[in-house]
Amino acid sequence: MTLEINRIQPFPDERTAIVTGAGAERGIGRRVARKLASEGWSVVAADIDGAATEAFAAELTAELPAESGQKVIGVGVDISDQAAVDAAFARIDAEMPPIAALVNLAGIPSPHSIFEITSDIWDKVMNVNGKGTLLMIQAAATRMIDGGFGGRIVNTASITALDGGGTFSKTGYAAAKAAVQGLTRGAARELGQYGITANVILPGPIDTDIMGGTLTDDRKAGMSANIPLQRVGQPEEVAGLINFLVSEDSSFVSGTSINVDGGKHMH
Ligand SMILES: NC(=O)c1ccc[n+]([C@@H]2O[C@H](COP(=O)([O-])OP(=O)(O)OC[C@H]3O[C@@H](n4cnc5c(N)ncnc54)[C@H](O)[C@@H]3O)[C@@H](O)[C@H]2O)c1
Repeated sequence: MTLEINRIQPFPDERTAIVTGAGAERGIGRRVARKLASEGWSVVAADIDGAATEAFAAELTAELPAESGQKVIGVGVDISDQAAVDAAFARIDAEMPPIAALVNLAGIPSPHSIFEITSDIWDKVMNVNGKGTLLMIQAAATRMIDGGFGGRIVNTASITALDGGGTFSKTGYAAAKAAVQGLTRGAARELGQYGITANVILPGPIDTDIMGGTLTDDRKAGMSANIPLQRVGQPEEVAGLINFLVSEDSSFVSGTSINVDGGKHMH
């Protein structure tokens, strides 16, 4: 369907946001899921670690007032696997209110330099960060179009895509995250006619376990020296930006790339 020109499309009261990467306990995904639930969204917490998302969904459900009518479910899915994505959406279709937002946070780093990265690692990094984001968009956007009220897509790149690599993640990750930026622009261009916005966030160093505990206090202090705000970011500071990008307030923001990095990368 095509939307009426000049009309801002409101979302239904009962609406679902899918948040991928919501398995990690200290990750950005859980913070986002919590924030969106507090703003009235029903939430699908999706992650390759299905048990972790189910436990998290139970925890979040218990925190919501019963009369809110909101639903939170945890769904195990490898976003780079088409069959797994299809199965996840079959469950979402059966159990959840209409999808109005997709937040793609699932991703993997690659600390390998050009001479270290193997063909297999390259494929994996591109598949999870790039193809996984695409498969989730294809499935969610089809449902948003059917819903007829537009939608919001937020993808996650990294300032590494602009800087070419940092301490923790190098060329393969930079390439995959640059692909996510291009993919977002394509999605914004193709899906705008349905009232669907697509934007990409580029975090700088955020205090999570993405590097498996190697982001020690010493490393954080070292990294902070190059950040105007003199510190690394917290997951809730990314959640605030994403909350805006999925809200009705961002209805005319699309195709844009927003750094959330304390001013580390300016361009
Ligand atoms: N933390 C940072 O400093 C930082 C900086 C820039 C960009 N980012 C990006 O932000 C996003 C979230 O980062 P985070 O720090 O919360 O990471 P995290 O490692 O804490 O969480 C990532 C989650 O993605 C999940 N995941 C991995 N592969 C998957 C797959 N194939 N299918 C489904 N789920 C999968 C993991 O299980 C994990 O729960 C990532 O895309 C990351 O690249 C993070």
